[in-house]
Amino acid sequence: MTSTVAQTQQPPRVDLLPVTGADVALIQACIRTEAEMVDWAGPDRFTWPLTREQIVAYLEEAAASDGCRTWSAADRSTGIRVGHVQLMVAPDASGHICRVLIAPERRGHGYGRALMQHLIRHAFDDLDLQRLTLNVMTSNDRARALYESLGFAASAGSAFSLRMSLPRPR
Ligand SMILES: CC(C)(COP(=O)(O)OP(=O)(O)OC[C@H]1O[C@@H](n2cnc3c(N)ncnc32)[C@H](O)[C@@H]1OP(=O)(O)O)[C@@H](O)C(=O)NCCC(=O)NCCS
Repeated sequence: MTSTVAQTQQPPRVDLLPVTGADVALIQACIRTEAEMVDWAGPDRFTWPLTREQIVAYLEEAAASDGCRTWSAADRSTGIRVGHVQLMVAPDASGHICRVLIAPERRGHGYGRALMQHLIRHAFDDLDLQRLTLNVMTSNDRARALYESLGFAASAGSAFSLRMSLPRPR
């Protein structure tokens, strides 16, 4: 008699690490098309082709901006950097999440969910924020499904993009 052992794949866990120079290449490699660039950052933030110079300027601006926190997401078990995210903290104790990005070869394996769960916990438990918001393109089904499954609900929007909000759990 043969027996089989069910292989259960554990969801990945991530750490949020300070951004380094290596993130410039990571971000550039993650954005393969203009459509992906628009999904990532909206239609107005960068111009295609996304150059190293634009990414360096974006990271420098973020580092110099009050209330703006930018991280790499790294796989907790391997330390490999797999993504990127930014949080803008406002004086009214709200936070706006932007630039959510997972490396193409890692997508669909739970890294986006792990990144968002880690960030939400950090925002509510460590930073004591009262509300999180983000913008997503209406056509970005994968990102919308992820955010909705985490409790974000559309609070405003246009034909092209939605503002979604998540209040601090009571
Ligand atoms: C959006 C993004 C961050 C999601 O990260 P990811 O690692 O692929 O997502 P996960 O594997 O954690 O999947 C999370 C959820 O997304 C949805 N999802 C995953 N793959 C999907 C697919 N192919 N189609 C539709 N929804 C999908 C599911 O709801 C999934 O939930 P599940 O784990 O219960 O199945 C990633 O795809 C990405 O970097 N995209 C390009 C940049 C971008 O669009 N950023 C969002 C800016 S608002």
